[in-house]
Order: sequence, then structure tokens, then C-alpha cells
Amino acid sequence: MRVFVADHPLITHKLTVLRNAKTPQPTFRLLIEELMTLLAYEATREVRVEPHEIETPVAPTTGVRLSHPLPLIVPILRAGLGMLEGMVKLVPTAEVGFLGMVRDEETLEPTTYAERLPDDLSGRQCFVLDPMLATGGSLAAAIKFLFDRGADDVTAICVLGTPEGVEVLEKAAEGRKVTLVLGALDEGLNEQAYIVPGLGDAGDRLYGTI
Ligand code: PRP
Ligand code: URA
Repeated sequence: MRVFVADHPLITHKLTVLRNAKTPQPTFRLLIEELMTLLAYEATREVRVEPHEIETPVAPTTGVRLSHPLPLIVPILRAGLGMLEGMVKLVPTAEVGFLGMVRDEETLEPTTYAERLPDDLSGRQCFVLDPMLATGGSLAAAIKFLFDRGADDVTAICVLGTPEGVEVLEKAAEGRKVTLVLGALDEGLNEQAYIVPGLGDAGDRLYGTI
């Protein structure tokens, strides 16, 4: 598994505002979307393209367009939904599928409660969006779900991650092509398995359920 951790002062600046417990909900939402667009630039570095011939007002030339099958973007509900607009801004023609997952806050086990994905993902590049990689249980279950449907190239994009989560994801990848793009790699987890220093509960802060 390849891991990229963003290294850009604008990303660090936006993350600082996002982490601040005093940041109001509308600003939090906007920042998640903006950060996603910045991370999408790195995450789509190897998106598949094919040659495409066009004519400029001056001369014919060959550029590129996205190859078929088009990439599949999979936000993990709820919190991943906050990243979707930021991603489709950059890849507007991509297809979107949904996975609903929630982790039990006692056992930390993830449960899948919703799924709306193509039946066959063979040959598809999949981009999974979830702001938080904490224990890694949810994202590991999500990529396993995609592998079981035939995907062989999965890029996970998270705003924050932990070393524990990265290790769990590495095991779940089992030698398959998985790329992880993080806005920042935090110190670790607290006793409630929250990311430290983190930003709190991403879903609650996005949707005002605090
Ligand atoms: C959060 C987050 C991840 C998961 C991370 O979702 O968005 O999906 O927890 O934790 P893990 O790495 O330990 O599995 P949550 O289960 O709170 O659901 P929500 O998005 O509906 O708030
Ligand atoms: N889920 C969150 O939203 N935040 C954390 O810190 C851990 C899991």
C-alpha cells in the first residue's frame, strides 16, 4: 500500500481551522469540501486517461480524456458525504456509488447499513472518501467490500489518519493496489478511539448533531 501525506502550507492552515473546536458548522463543512479538492489533486495523479484528438482554433492536437470505465467515487456515509462535492468538482464525469457504515462506539466494530454500488467493479478505479481513519475498521471493511465486487485499484482519501489505522488498512490491502492519501497523519487514538489531536466527531460537526 502506498501512503501519501499532504505537505502544503494551505492544507495545514485549513486543517488548523477545521481542528479548532470553536469553528462553526458552516465553516467546518466548507473546509472539508475545500480540503477534499486539494487532496483530490494528489489522489487522481494516476487516474486512467486515453489519447483524445481535438482541434484548437489554430491546429489539430492530441490531448487526453478519462478512460472507460469511468472512475467510481464512493463516499462513506455519513461523514464522507461532506467530501463528495469537493471531489466531483475535479472529476465531474465520474460515477458515484454509496456505502453507509457506522462504527459501534462500544465495540468499535463497523456495520454496513447501506450500499448502492455497481454489481461488478472489475477494471474500475475506485476512490473512497472518508474524513477519518481512526482504528481503520471502517475503511478496511469498505475496501474489502470493493475488492469482493472485483475492484483491483482503490484509492482512499482521508482528512486525518493515525498510524494504527494505516497499519490496519495495510493488512486489509493484502498486497492489492491500494493508495492512501491523508491530509495529515496524527499522533494516535485516545481511550475512546478518537483521533488525537484530531477534530472530534466529523459526522456530528458536519451535520450539527453535537
Ligand atoms: C466515523 C468516520 C469513519 C469512522 C472511523 O464515522 O467517518 O467512518 O468513524 O472510525 P474507525 O477508523 O475507527 O472505523 P461514524 O462511524 O462515526 O459514522 P458517521 O460518519 O455516520 O458519523
Ligand atoms: N470518528 C470520528 O468522527 N472522529 C474520530 O476521531 C474517530 C472516529
